Amino acid sequence: MDPLPNLSPRPACLEDLDSVLKIEASSHPLPWSRSGFEKELSTPWSRFIVLTDDETDTLVFGYVVYWIQTEGVSLLNITVGPEWRGLGLSRKLMQLMIQETIREEIPRILLEVRESNQTAIRLYESCGFKKTHERKGFYADGESAWVMESRTEGIETPIQ
Ligand SMILES: CC(C)(COP(=O)(O)OP(=O)(O)OC[C@H]1O[C@@H](n2cnc3c(N)ncnc32)[C@H](O)[C@@H]1OP(=O)(O)O)[C@@H](O)C(=O)NCCC(=O)NCCS
Repeated sequence: MDPLPNLSPRPACLEDLDSVLKIEASSHPLPWSRSGFEKELSTPWSRFIVLTDDETDTLVFGYVVYWIQTEGVSLLNITVGPEWRGLGLSRKLMQLMIQETIREEIPRILLEVRESNQTAIRLYESCGFKKTHERKGFYADGESAWVMESRTEGIETPIQ
């Protein structure tokens, strides 16, 4: 594996979508479509952040999509390129979302995760999320979801 270059987060743009879609297709049983990502780019309350290399600012290593609403932030998608996993990149992306939630004084963050996705569940638990309940057959392929929540007042900010 190549060494990890210096990376920075920035808002995604249309030019990022080819790279994002490649990562998405290799990461999810039911990947989002191009139009799904395009919709997020034009939704005022949506944050779609990519982590790119500082040198060219064009290579996408991972991304996060979340909605900022006054009653709660919703995490919709967090994905890191398969060859760049286990290096703390998703923790960085989670940290950005958590910091914005705290800054905006929004009381909680909510998410759904496939019950089989133990890697993601570990990540969320390590960022202060707790399971609140299950949604049976939530996903289009019939898998159930865990609903997880983090209250911002009790959060452990995963500062690296
Ligand atoms: C889940 C995912 C985003 C994690 O990204 P990552 O950059 O590899 O994660 P990090 O290196 O930042 O690890 C953060 C924490 O996640 C957990 N984690 C990450 N990889 C793990 C693994 N293989 N097994 C168990 N826990 C793991 C650990 O708690 C880890 O903290 P630690 O290193 O202190 O133990 C990544 O595996 C991925 O993109 N998966 C496919 C898409 C997906 O399932 N997204 C979530 C649902 S939308």
